[in-house]
Amino acid sequence: MDPTITTIEDLRRIAKRRVPRMFYDYADSGSWTEGTYRANEADFAAIQFRQRVAVDMTDRSLATTMAGQRVAMPVALAPTGMTGMQHADGEILAARAAEAAGVPFTLSTMSICSIEDVAEAVSSPFWFQLYFMRDRAFNDRLIDRAAAAGCSALVLTLDLQILGQRHKDIRNGLSAPPRLTPSTVIDLLTKPRWCLGMARTQRRTFRNIVGHVEGVGDTRSISAWTSQQFDPRLDWDDVARIRDRWKGPLILKGILDAEDAEKAVATGAESLIVSNHGGRQLDGAPSSIAILPEIVESVGSRIEVLMDGGIRSGQDVLKAIALGAKGVFIGRPFLYGLGAGGEAGVARCLEIIRKELDMTMALCGHRNLLDVDRSILRPPHG
Ligand SMILES: Cc1cc2nc3c(=O)[nH]c(=O)nc-3n(C[C@H](O)[C@H](O)[C@H](O)COP(=O)(O)O)c2cc1C
Repeated sequence: MDPTITTIEDLRRIAKRRVPRMFYDYADSGSWTEGTYRANEADFAAIQFRQRVAVDMTDRSLATTMAGQRVAMPVALAPTGMTGMQHADGEILAARAAEAAGVPFTLSTMSICSIEDVAEAVSSPFWFQLYFMRDRAFNDRLIDRAAAAGCSALVLTLDLQILGQRHKDIRNGLSAPPRLTPSTVIDLLTKPRWCLGMARTQRRTFRNIVGHVEGVGDTRSISAWTSQQFDPRLDWDDVARIRDRWKGPLILKGILDAEDAEKAVATGAESLIVSNHGGRQLDGAPSSIAILPEIVESVGSRIEVLMDGGIRSGQDVLKAIALGAKGVFIGRPFLYGLGAGGEAGVARCLEIIRKELDMTMALCGHRNLLDVDRSILRPPHG
């Protein structure tokens, strides 16, 4: 890859040129006014570090654990739907890049490549994200398939019982594969690299679902399928049942309130993710980084607290760690990398973040990420 690509923003700009508009927009959008989407990034920018000097900076380490598993740095790839539409075989490529970087990859229920597709392509275990469906037998089968594929953690998403409205997806007629209308055809003509990749793969629809759910042969439209199949009745008893069925580490995703964090602890889950789904669900909710400290304070000694939303650099990762997160997930940064350059683009994304995290830690006066705490930040956060 071009060595002058040095920021996540560089990757985003390239992805915007290479990825068909409906899929680029699908990634780069939040619900309604996108206020929460913007706040996720803006609130990180407001946090400042304390610059420290004359401290030995040799032999630095970013290694830690997430959900009880060793990671080269505390950054997992977040579950994202339709990743195989940002780039052909996107989930496989991202999982390979994550494996090479020593960080977890999380496969979404709404992925293009299936659990089995990804399992075949990597040798270390990945994580699986579950959306809770009306069809309980299908949920059970997904959990069993993830276990059979050797997935080493289950991420249960709690903040999408109904789908937040993203205006651009409606305007663009988002579907996988894209419906060929005059405007999509014109757009695709300007994205030859993407089209070539898609022509070479068979993986063009929701392969965790198609062929695995009775009566569902076509899941082109994520919103139509979501409104029919996602179960709006999901409650804490259902979470407890999933806890019973899944024998490995369980990570509850989408906690943004201290009362819900208490309920998450009561389920016996190993970890929770402070998340507002990247600003894609409840617009008007606070940013994840603004809520992180109060969740850490209320339950941090009883459950592992992870977070996602708005991370665009290794500096943001360090801020989240300083405020008590054990690790973070990134969504759009790796999708931009994927759209910009496939596996090499995701690898570049992770390398950019690793380098920024490492250098910032050093300049804050630390050599080991496990020693980082709030004291590296300036008040009001320090
Ligand atoms: C395009 C896209 C698709 C997503 N699909 C899913 C999904 O299928 N399941 C899920 O739990 N979260 C999904 N999310 C939310 C991410 O897991 C994560 O919470 C969010 O992207 C973090 O914010 P960031 O993109 O600012 O890093 C999606 C996010 C994006 C951007």
